[in-house]
Order: sequence, then C-alpha cells, then structure tokens
Amino acid sequence: MEKPGNNETIPPLFQPIQVRGTSFRNRVFLSPMCQYASDEGAPTPWHSAHHSRFALGGLGGAMVESTGVTRDGRITPVCMGLWNETQEKGLSAIADIYHAQGVPVGIQLSHSGRKGSSTPPAEGGKPLSSAGPEQAWETVAPSAIPLRDGWPTPKALTEAEIEDLIQAFVDAAKRAIRAGFDYVEIHGAHGYLIHSFMSPLANQRTDRWGGDLEGRMRFPLEIVKAVRKVIPENMPLFYRASVVDGLDGGLAADDTVLLAQRLKAAGVDVIDCSSGGITGASGKSFSEPYPGYLVDYSAQVKREAEILTMAVGVIVSAEKANDVIASGEADFVAIARHHLYDPSFAYHAAEELGHPDPESLLPDSYGMVLRAR
Ligand SMILES: Cc1cc2nc3c(=O)[nH]c(=O)nc-3n(C[C@H](O)[C@H](O)[C@H](O)COP(=O)(O)O)c2cc1C
Repeated sequence: MEKPGNNETIPPLFQPIQVRGTSFRNRVFLSPMCQYASDEGAPTPWHSAHHSRFALGGLGGAMVESTGVTRDGRITPVCMGLWNETQEKGLSAIADIYHAQGVPVGIQLSHSGRKGSSTPPAEGGKPLSSAGPEQAWETVAPSAIPLRDGWPTPKALTEAEIEDLIQAFVDAAKRAIRAGFDYVEIHGAHGYLIHSFMSPLANQRTDRWGGDLEGRMRFPLEIVKAVRKVIPENMPLFYRASVVDGLDGGLAADDTVLLAQRLKAAGVDVIDCSSGGITGASGKSFSEPYPGYLVDYSAQVKREAEILTMAVGVIVSAEKANDVIASGEADFVAIARHHLYDPSFAYHAAEELGHPDPESLLPDSYGMVLRAR
C-alpha cells in the first residue's frame, strides 16, 4: 500500500516508527472513544461502521475504546467488555477491519472503579438507579470515597479482590491477543480504577496498596508486570495516564514521571498522556482546553522518563499534529473528536503538509483514482 519514499521529503508526522514488533506507518492515532453501543459488552454493527470510517482514512494506528475487564468494570451497561467468548469473537471482527487495511490496532483495557454503574453521557452520565431498567451495581475503589456529592460510596477493595482484578486484566489481555489485537493499552487515566489508586484524592489506604507514591503505584505496576508476562515479547504495551489531577492535593506531573519510569522498567513502551477526571469533573488545569493543551505533559514525561509518548487533547490541525512530532514533544498524536469530524484526517493532513504521495496512505482502490482526480 505504501510507496517507498525519500524520508527527507516526508513530514515528521508521516515518518514510520517501529515499537517492538509493530511497524506504524505514521504517527496519527485514533484515540479510544466509548461508543455506548455494546450489547452485553460485545460490539454491535455500530462498531463495525464506526471503525470502518477510520480504517480507510490513512491512520498510523487505532485504539478500540475503553473495554471492561469484568462485567462490573464497565462504566455503563452499554460499554464494551472482554470477559467472555462472544465479546472476544466480536472484537476479533473489529480488529479484522483494521488489518484488512494494514492498520495496526490495539484495545484499551479498563476497570471503571467508582465511576462505574452509571448511565451513558447522553442520559446524563449519572449513577444508575436500582429502580431503573438497568440494575445498578456496587462500585469498587481503593477507599470508600464517593466520586463526588450525589454518587454512591464505593466498596473499598480487599487485598484478595485487588489480586483478582489484576488477574482479570491478565485474562482480558490474553483474550485480546487471541482476538488478534496488535497491542494493548492499560487505561490508567480519567478517574477510573487504576487512576483512583494513583491519586491521593481517591486512595487513602494505609496498606501496601496506598499511602505514599510507592504504595499508590503498586496497583498499576502489578497489572503491567502481570500483563507483560502473558503478552508476546514483541507486542507493544501502552499505558494511558492522567498526568495530573489538576486539583489541589492531587496527582502532579512529577508523580507521573516517576510512574512512567517504573512502567518503562516493567515493560511499557508508550505513555499516552491525558489528564484529569479524578472527581469526574474537569480539574482546573484543563478547564479551558485549547489546541494541544496537554502536549507539555507529554513532552515532560518523554524527556524525564525517557520513554515514547503519545500526546492528546484538541489536536485538530495538520500543522499542530506535525509540530508536536517534529519538536520531539511526542512520538504519536492521538486524535479523538476531530476524527469523528474527519475520519480521513491523516490523508488530508498528508496532503496539507506536502507529503510526496498522500494517496499512498489510502487503500489502493481509492488511492489510484484519487491520484488521477
Ligand atoms: C465520545 C468520546 C469517548 C471517549 N472515550 C474514551 C475512552 O474510551 N477511553 C479513553 O481513554 N478516553 C476516551 N475519551 C477521551 C479521548 O480519547 C481523548 O483523550 C479526548 O477526547 C481528547 O482528545 P480530542 O480533543 O482529540 O477529542 C473519549 C472522548 C470522547 C469524545
């Protein structure tokens, strides 16, 4: 599909990169996006339509949405899951959509923690009521501290339950491999379970899973170590972090740099640098997002932890995306909403940035006729 080119004439955004055994033809990533359209955790025809749009648009890589490693680890009853055969089979078909176009695809494994048992955003994103058609479930967290006023108090996990959840991540990672995904991302951001272990605002445990940063890092690190053991040596492992909580007394960027160093030693290859979400609402550091508003966090993590990073957050122009890569602030750019607006963002960005053959990013049957247009 890709024509050999002179690397010097190819804009930085379109320079290929190899991570372990996976070659990414460019740096444009589809950021994970919950679709609230799953059926008992399995993908539906909606997901096929949704992912087909991006698979055809020239991406370097894609990430399937936040996928619960257990039934109660989903955010809402219509969120994706990966704890049974039906889900594994359905997700395998989604992976095939990308593979048919030569695009590597990963899946984001998650546990919702105290943000689970909620309604989809279109229905208010509020706690499920037990009286409704969808039964609420008991949420879990490092400590029995509600997300914020009006949310139920989660159950503080016992040590045995923590170990079970680590195993659930391992089991889901094994299913992801069987389903054909090229890499896995551990969702350590946005206030969900892993992030809530990291943040002092949510984790007030006094055992080895809490306390100082060392204790609060234990859960993500144990998950990553256990997952790394069961995925192939040549398979990339991504980790999405909320680099900062953006709230007084919360997680700071220096904490995440240390986490990133440890994650790297445990076998993580790329830190996907997001932010916020620990109380559900926006923290003050990102109350007014502007294009590339989180890029500095990616640059800091990359520089100080010496690890590959992905930048995200209102990256909506070819020029910005290319600058982020050219300046060395990130190795990948993750684009969520702008991909909904323009699923062929990568192709269009290649054209705009003077790529010598933008159509080489497209399937041959499109590229051939578009070159002659
Ligand atoms: C509809 C929607 C669903 C999202 N679902 C997820 C998700 O499953 N996992 C995740 O880490 N982030 C999720 N996000 C956050 C995006 O991946 C991204 O970090 C955020 O939207 C900022 O990027 P953008 O400005 O390019 O949209 C979601 C965002 C949107 C708009």
